[in-house]
Amino acid sequence: MSLAELQKIEVTAGRPYPVLLGAPLEELGKYVQAHLKDVEHILIITNQAIADLYAERLKKGLLDYRVNLLTVPAGETEKSLERLSQLTTAALRCGADRHSLVIALGGGVIGDLSGFFASVFMRGIRLIQVPTTLLAQVDSSIGGKVAVNHPAGKNIIGAFYPPLAVWTDFTTLESLPWEEVENGLAESVKHALIADASLFDFFETQQESIKQRDTMIWREMVTRSSTVKVKIVSQDEREQGLRALLNLGHSFGHALETVMNYHGVTHGQGVSIGLVAAANLANAKGLITTAEVERIKHLLNTFGLLTEIKDQDPQVLLQLMQADKKNQGGRKILILPQGIGQAVISRDCADSEILDAWKQVIK
Ligand code: NAD
Ligand code: GLY
Repeated sequence: MSLAELQKIEVTAGRPYPVLLGAPLEELGKYVQAHLKDVEHILIITNQAIADLYAERLKKGLLDYRVNLLTVPAGETEKSLERLSQLTTAALRCGADRHSLVIALGGGVIGDLSGFFASVFMRGIRLIQVPTTLLAQVDSSIGGKVAVNHPAGKNIIGAFYPPLAVWTDFTTLESLPWEEVENGLAESVKHALIADASLFDFFETQQESIKQRDTMIWREMVTRSSTVKVKIVSQDEREQGLRALLNLGHSFGHALETVMNYHGVTHGQGVSIGLVAAANLANAKGLITTAEVERIKHLLNTFGLLTEIKDQDPQVLLQLMQADKKNQGGRKILILPQGIGQAVISRDCADSEILDAWKQVIK
């Protein structure tokens, strides 16, 4: 495949950059050669499991460069200042300098950590995102948010640091376990709900093919879902307004993840419950019909995502939503679906309405 044949969507905010879809790992070197002529040294940052699966394919195309592979352990806890410092030590030992290029090979954890590292190492070095999970391909690799966590909360220390390119090789998804697929599906369904009713129809009509991992259908799903994210961040890269819509389901979902101490509920399951709770609240406000709420629940259920939970206290969950980063002046700011394919920012949700929305998902 020649570089000209790649499918390209452009993020047009700030400094524009391409999201290249169907881009083989082996070909990234050609892209670097063509577009980043002064690069000599490359740091590939990943974890061992992903390196075992994909580093050789990536390195095959990078024979003209001095390449160092830096691995970190897997898991959300690696998004830490300690790991950032260790990466810095390792990068210096490899002779990295201001002209080095970082390639973030992995899911959202690697993308966020390596991206933040690239944003601060010697005041910022070049970055290419190579997402290998569904969530990373449709969501986290696009839009420039990079961060590490702090004991006070997730992604508290971060930056907007757009990559030079997002290099999306669909074939990496073949090795992804279904639980990880679910995390990406929850975000993809969210994209459809926010901005693309026809993508929601696609999910409904292609649900069996999606579950069977039909290659062509997955390509279309990733392409269409990434396109939603690209369009939104192109209009509002710094989250002054529109980009906040991407938080649909997340205020509810984060409260659930927090109450469960991030154990026993995956991020995708939290988002799924959050989408249903937000839809219930929107229904009470007349923004979405009961039939549309049922369509959403049915689709999420089809993919094995949760639409009900047990043994939770809605008051505790409501209380936890008090700490949401989007709230302003003590007022809860929530994203609500408006039918299927649109969403709105709501500043007037009463606690009683939020409680009712929670009660409907707790059985
Ligand atoms: P992840 O990065 O933890 O990856 C999940 C697991 O899949 C890991 O164990 C990883 O080793 C493994 N894996 C990755 N690619 C694989 C492959 N191709 N085959 C087999 N296994 C593979 O999880 P994630 O869901 O990709 O990302 C979650 C992170 O993304 C969170 O930290 C979240 O805060 C962040 N996030 C960031 C943004 C953003 O805009 N920056 C948006 C959404 C989420
Ligand atoms: N995933 C939310 C955002 O990128 O803004």
